[in-house]
Amino acid sequence: MTYQTLLVETDNNICTITINRPDKLNAINNQVMTELGLAVNELISDANVKSAIITGAGPKAFVAGADISEFGGLSVNEGKAVAKKGVDVFFSIENSPKPIIAAVNGFALGGGCELAMTCHFRIASDNAKFGQPEVNLGLIPGYGGTQRLVQLIGKGRAIELLISGNIIDAATALQYGLVNAVTTPDELLNKAKSILATINNKAPLAIEKCIAAANAVYDETKNGYDIELQGFADCFGTEDLKEGAKAFLEKRKPMFKGK
Ligand code: COA
Repeated sequence: MTYQTLLVETDNNICTITINRPDKLNAINNQVMTELGLAVNELISDANVKSAIITGAGPKAFVAGADISEFGGLSVNEGKAVAKKGVDVFFSIENSPKPIIAAVNGFALGGGCELAMTCHFRIASDNAKFGQPEVNLGLIPGYGGTQRLVQLIGKGRAIELLISGNIIDAATALQYGLVNAVTTPDELLNKAKSILATINNKAPLAIEKCIAAANAVYDETKNGYDIELQGFADCFGTEDLKEGAKAFLEKRKPMFKGK
C-alpha cells in the first residue's frame, strides 16, 4: 500500500515506518493516525515482516505531538472521537504479536511521547527530547499517555512531567527507564535494526506469548500469571519448541518457523 504521510519499507524482515511530515515536525494529524493504523495492520499480516521500527523523518523530530491545528473548535464529543481513534491505533501497536520498537530521533512530545510509549520498547538518539506538554495548551494526553507514563517511569516522576509540561533529555529518559538505550543520531536506525535482527532469530510464537503476558500486567481484565501459564503450555504444541530443544542438544542454531 502507498501512504501520503508515511514512508514504509521492509528490509531483512524488518518493517520501518517513518512518519513523514518533517515540515510540521511529524505532528500526527487525522491522516497520519489513519495511515498508521493501516500500516500496523499491514505489517502484522505480512508474512515477510518479523518486527518493526517506528521513527520520524528529518533530523529534528520523532513526532512533536498531535497536530494542534486540528484541535480548534472541536466539541467535547469530537474531542472524544479523536482520542478514541488514537487509543485504538495505539492499542493495535501495543498488542501487536510482532515486536514494534520506537527509534526516537528528536522531539517526542505529547502524542509523540505517547506513540513511543505504546511501542514495545524505545531507543533514542542523544538529541531526543521527551515530554507531555499538553497542560501548556489547557489539555491532557489523550492516547493513553497518563497510563503508560506511570507504567514506565513510576507515578511520582510521571505526575511531575504531566502537570509541569517539563521536557526531559535522552540521558534523563535513559535514567528514568523510558528508553532502553541512547546512541548518536547517525547510528540510531542501525542500532534499532541490529537489536531487531537478534530478536528476529528467536521463535516468533514465543515472542508473541511474551508480549501478551507482559501486556497483561497492565490489563485488569486479564490475569497475567494465567496467560503466562497457558502460553508456556501452548509452546509444547509448537514445532519450534521441538526444534529449539533439538538444536540445543545438537549444539547448532535453531531454525524456527513460527509453527
Ligand atoms: N502540531 C501542529 N504543528 C506543529 C506541532 C504540532 N504538535 N509541532 C510543531 N508544529 C509545526 C509548527 O507550527 C511549525 O509550523 P510552521 O513552520 O508552518 O509555522 C513547524 O512545525 C516547526 O515547528 P517550530 O515550532 O517552528 O519549531 P521549533 O524548533 O521552534 O520548536 C517545538 C519545536 C517542538 C518545541 C515546538 O514546535 C512545539 O512546542 N510544538 C508543540 C509541542 C506540543 O505541544 N505537543 C503536544 C500537542 S497536543
